[in-house]
Amino acid sequence: MKNIVVMISGNGSNLQAIIDATTSGYINGKIVAVISNKASAYGLERAKKANIPTFVFARKQFSDNLAMDSAIAEKIEQLNADLIVLAGYMKILTPEFTQRFTGKIINIHPSLLPKYAGLNTHQRAMDAGDTEHGMTIHFVNEEVDGGAIILQSKVPIYPDDELDDVIQRVYEQEHRCYPLVVEWFCSNRLYLKNGKAYLDEQQLACQGY
Ligand code: GAR
Repeated sequence: MKNIVVMISGNGSNLQAIIDATTSGYINGKIVAVISNKASAYGLERAKKANIPTFVFARKQFSDNLAMDSAIAEKIEQLNADLIVLAGYMKILTPEFTQRFTGKIINIHPSLLPKYAGLNTHQRAMDAGDTEHGMTIHFVNEEVDGGAIILQSKVPIYPDDELDDVIQRVYEQEHRCYPLVVEWFCSNRLYLKNGKAYLDEQQLACQGY
Protein backbone atom coordinates (compact mmCIF):
# COMPACT_ATOMS: atom_id res chain seq x y z
CA MET A 1 0.00 0.00 0.00
CA LYS A 2 1.37 3.43 -0.95
CA ASN A 3 1.86 6.27 1.49
CA ILE A 4 0.26 9.50 0.31
CA VAL A 5 0.93 13.04 1.54
CA VAL A 6 -1.64 15.64 0.50
CA MET A 7 -0.64 19.33 0.42
CA ILE A 8 -3.34 21.98 0.70
CA SER A 9 -3.87 25.69 1.36
CA GLY A 10 -7.63 25.98 1.72
CA ASN A 11 -11.00 24.30 1.58
CA GLY A 12 -9.75 20.82 0.77
CA SER A 13 -12.71 19.48 -1.20
CA ASN A 14 -10.30 17.51 -3.40
CA LEU A 15 -8.60 16.24 -0.25
CA GLN A 16 -12.05 15.10 0.92
CA ALA A 17 -12.64 13.21 -2.33
CA ILE A 18 -9.31 11.41 -1.83
CA ILE A 19 -10.01 10.71 1.87
CA ASP A 20 -13.37 9.19 0.89
CA ALA A 21 -11.75 7.08 -1.82
CA THR A 22 -9.10 5.71 0.58
CA THR A 23 -11.70 5.03 3.30
CA SER A 24 -13.92 3.12 0.89
CA GLY A 25 -10.96 1.08 -0.39
CA TYR A 26 -11.22 2.49 -3.93
CA ILE A 27 -7.65 3.78 -3.57
CA ASN A 28 -5.12 1.22 -2.38
CA GLY A 29 -3.19 3.78 -0.35
CA LYS A 30 -3.02 5.52 2.98
CA ILE A 31 -2.94 9.28 3.54
CA VAL A 32 -0.11 9.50 6.06
CA ALA A 33 -0.28 13.28 6.47
CA VAL A 34 -1.88 16.49 5.29
CA ILE A 35 0.47 19.45 5.02
CA SER A 36 -0.77 23.03 4.76
CA ASN A 37 0.98 26.36 4.42
CA LYS A 38 -2.08 28.02 6.05
CA ALA A 39 -3.08 27.29 9.65
CA SER A 40 -6.64 28.39 8.82
CA ALA A 41 -7.15 25.94 5.93
CA TYR A 42 -10.50 24.17 6.34
CA GLY A 43 -8.94 21.05 4.84
CA LEU A 44 -7.02 20.59 8.12
CA GLU A 45 -10.37 20.04 9.87
CA ARG A 46 -11.32 17.47 7.26
CA ALA A 47 -8.03 15.65 7.90
CA LYS A 48 -8.50 15.72 11.69
CA LYS A 49 -12.00 14.29 11.33
CA ALA A 50 -10.48 11.41 9.37
CA ASN A 51 -7.72 10.95 12.01
CA ILE A 52 -4.99 11.96 9.59
CA PRO A 53 -1.94 13.75 11.09
CA THR A 54 -1.63 17.38 10.01
CA PHE A 55 1.38 19.68 9.76
CA VAL A 56 1.44 23.41 9.12
CA PHE A 57 4.48 25.08 7.57
CA ALA A 58 3.92 28.84 7.52
CA ARG A 59 6.18 31.00 5.37
CA LYS A 60 6.85 33.37 8.28
CA GLN A 61 8.55 30.59 10.26
CA PHE A 62 11.31 30.44 7.64
CA SER A 63 13.94 32.82 6.31
CA ASP A 64 13.14 32.03 2.67
CA ASN A 65 11.20 29.72 0.38
CA LEU A 66 14.13 27.35 0.07
CA ALA A 67 14.31 26.84 3.85
CA MET A 68 10.55 26.29 4.00
CA ASP A 69 10.48 23.76 1.17
CA SER A 70 13.49 21.96 2.54
CA ALA A 71 11.73 21.54 5.94
CA ILE A 72 8.62 20.22 4.15
CA ALA A 73 10.77 17.85 2.06
CA GLU A 74 12.42 16.46 5.21
CA LYS A 75 9.03 15.83 6.80
CA ILE A 76 7.82 14.08 3.65
CA GLU A 77 10.90 11.86 3.64
CA GLN A 78 10.43 10.99 7.32
CA LEU A 79 6.88 9.97 6.47
CA ASN A 80 8.12 7.61 3.73
CA ALA A 81 5.73 9.14 1.24
CA ASP A 82 5.45 7.44 -2.14
CA LEU A 83 3.18 10.12 -3.61
CA ILE A 84 2.69 13.85 -2.96
CA VAL A 85 -0.72 15.10 -4.04
CA LEU A 86 -1.07 18.87 -4.45
CA ALA A 87 -4.73 19.62 -3.85
CA GLY A 88 -5.15 23.37 -3.92
CA TYR A 89 -1.65 24.05 -2.56
CA MET A 90 -1.42 27.67 -3.62
CA LYS A 91 2.27 28.40 -3.01
CA ILE A 92 4.80 27.90 -5.79
CA LEU A 93 7.27 25.15 -4.90
CA THR A 94 10.99 25.70 -5.39
CA PRO A 95 12.80 23.74 -8.16
CA GLU A 96 14.88 22.12 -5.40
CA PHE A 97 11.68 20.64 -3.98
CA THR A 98 10.09 19.56 -7.25
CA GLN A 99 13.34 17.99 -8.52
CA ARG A 100 13.79 16.07 -5.25
CA PHE A 101 10.45 14.34 -5.85
CA THR A 102 10.35 14.03 -9.64
CA GLY A 103 7.74 11.47 -10.69
CA LYS A 104 6.18 11.48 -7.23
CA ILE A 105 4.28 14.78 -7.24
CA ILE A 106 0.99 15.42 -8.99
CA ASN A 107 -1.13 18.57 -9.17
CA ILE A 108 -4.67 19.45 -10.13
CA HIS A 109 -5.38 22.70 -11.95
CA PRO A 110 -8.75 24.21 -12.84
CA SER A 111 -8.25 24.80 -16.57
CA LEU A 112 -7.44 22.95 -19.74
CA LEU A 113 -3.68 23.50 -19.59
CA PRO A 114 -1.69 24.98 -21.20
CA LYS A 115 -4.56 27.47 -21.27
CA TYR A 116 -4.89 29.61 -18.15
CA ALA A 117 -1.98 28.62 -15.96
CA GLY A 118 -2.01 30.67 -12.75
CA LEU A 119 -5.00 32.16 -10.96
CA ASN A 120 -8.65 33.11 -11.69
CA THR A 121 -8.90 30.50 -14.40
CA HIS A 122 -12.72 30.32 -14.51
CA GLN A 123 -13.16 34.07 -14.84
CA ARG A 124 -10.48 34.23 -17.51
CA ALA A 125 -12.16 31.46 -19.54
CA MET A 126 -15.53 33.24 -19.26
CA ASP A 127 -14.05 36.64 -20.13
CA ALA A 128 -12.45 35.12 -23.24
CA GLY A 129 -15.86 33.83 -24.36
CA ASP A 130 -14.72 30.20 -24.22
CA THR A 131 -17.48 27.63 -24.63
CA GLU A 132 -15.29 24.89 -23.16
CA HIS A 133 -13.31 24.78 -19.95
CA GLY A 134 -12.17 22.07 -17.57
CA MET A 135 -9.46 20.66 -15.35
CA THR A 136 -6.04 19.09 -15.74
CA ILE A 137 -4.10 16.65 -13.57
CA HIS A 138 -0.38 16.55 -14.26
CA PHE A 139 3.00 15.50 -12.88
CA VAL A 140 4.78 18.47 -11.37
CA ASN A 141 8.05 19.82 -12.67
CA GLU A 142 9.81 23.14 -12.00
CA GLU A 143 7.49 25.11 -14.32
CA VAL A 144 4.36 26.53 -12.67
CA ASP A 145 1.40 24.42 -13.86
CA GLY A 146 3.81 22.63 -16.20
CA GLY A 147 4.77 18.95 -16.28
CA ALA A 148 3.42 15.95 -18.16
CA ILE A 149 -0.34 15.88 -18.43
CA ILE A 150 -2.04 12.77 -17.05
CA LEU A 151 -5.73 13.52 -17.49
CA GLN A 152 -7.96 16.35 -18.64
CA SER A 153 -11.72 16.65 -18.39
CA LYS A 154 -13.80 19.21 -20.28
CA VAL A 155 -16.96 20.99 -19.22
CA PRO A 156 -19.17 23.34 -21.25
CA ILE A 157 -19.60 27.03 -20.50
CA TYR A 158 -23.14 28.16 -21.34
CA PRO A 159 -24.00 31.76 -22.29
CA ASP A 160 -26.16 32.34 -19.18
CA ASP A 161 -23.66 30.82 -16.72
CA GLU A 162 -22.69 32.67 -13.56
CA LEU A 163 -19.12 32.24 -12.31
CA ASP A 164 -20.31 29.87 -9.60
CA ASP A 165 -21.98 27.55 -12.14
CA VAL A 166 -18.66 27.11 -13.91
CA ILE A 167 -16.72 26.67 -10.67
CA GLN A 168 -19.11 23.92 -9.52
CA ARG A 169 -19.05 22.18 -12.91
CA VAL A 170 -15.25 22.03 -12.84
CA TYR A 171 -15.21 20.87 -9.20
CA GLU A 172 -17.48 17.96 -10.11
CA GLN A 173 -14.89 16.76 -12.62
CA GLU A 174 -12.01 17.34 -10.19
CA HIS A 175 -13.66 15.23 -7.50
CA ARG A 176 -14.26 12.40 -9.99
CA CYS A 177 -10.86 12.50 -11.65
CA TYR A 178 -8.38 13.06 -8.81
CA PRO A 179 -9.22 9.84 -6.90
CA LEU A 180 -9.00 7.95 -10.19
CA VAL A 181 -5.50 9.25 -10.96
CA VAL A 182 -4.30 8.64 -7.37
CA GLU A 183 -5.60 5.08 -7.69
CA TRP A 184 -3.70 4.61 -10.97
CA PHE A 185 -0.50 5.70 -9.23
CA CYS A 186 -1.12 3.55 -6.14
CA SER A 187 -1.71 0.45 -8.23
CA ASN A 188 1.58 1.05 -10.11
CA ARG A 189 -0.20 1.72 -13.40
CA LEU A 190 0.90 5.35 -13.70
CA TYR A 191 4.46 6.64 -13.84
CA LEU A 192 6.72 9.31 -15.29
CA LYS A 193 9.63 8.39 -17.58
CA ASN A 194 11.87 10.90 -19.38
CA GLY A 195 9.38 13.66 -18.63
CA LYS A 196 6.42 11.77 -20.14
CA ALA A 197 3.44 10.24 -18.35
CA TYR A 198 2.66 6.55 -18.91
CA LEU A 199 -0.42 4.51 -18.00
CA ASP A 200 -0.20 0.72 -18.36
CA GLU A 201 3.05 1.10 -20.36
CA GLN A 202 1.35 3.39 -22.90
CA GLN A 203 2.51 6.98 -23.18
CA LEU A 204 -0.43 9.25 -22.43
CA ALA A 205 -1.21 11.06 -25.63
CA CYS A 206 -2.85 14.11 -24.11
CA GLN A 207 -0.60 17.08 -24.80
CA GLY A 208 -3.03 19.73 -23.65
CA TYR A 209 -5.53 21.93 -25.48
C1 GAR B 1 -9.13 23.36 -7.05
O1 GAR B 1 -10.06 23.85 -7.99
C2 GAR B 1 -7.79 23.17 -7.72
O2 GAR B 1 -7.89 22.80 -9.07
C3 GAR B 1 -7.17 24.55 -7.58
O3 GAR B 1 -7.55 24.99 -6.32
C4 GAR B 1 -8.82 24.42 -5.99
C5 GAR B 1 -8.71 23.82 -4.60
O4 GAR B 1 -9.97 23.45 -4.13
N1 GAR B 1 -5.75 24.52 -7.74
C6 GAR B 1 -5.03 25.47 -8.34
O5 GAR B 1 -5.51 26.48 -8.77
C7 GAR B 1 -3.54 25.17 -8.44
N2 GAR B 1 -2.92 26.01 -9.43
P1 GAR B 1 -10.12 22.54 -2.86
O6 GAR B 1 -9.24 23.16 -1.76
O7 GAR B 1 -11.58 22.60 -2.49
O8 GAR B 1 -9.67 21.15 -3.21
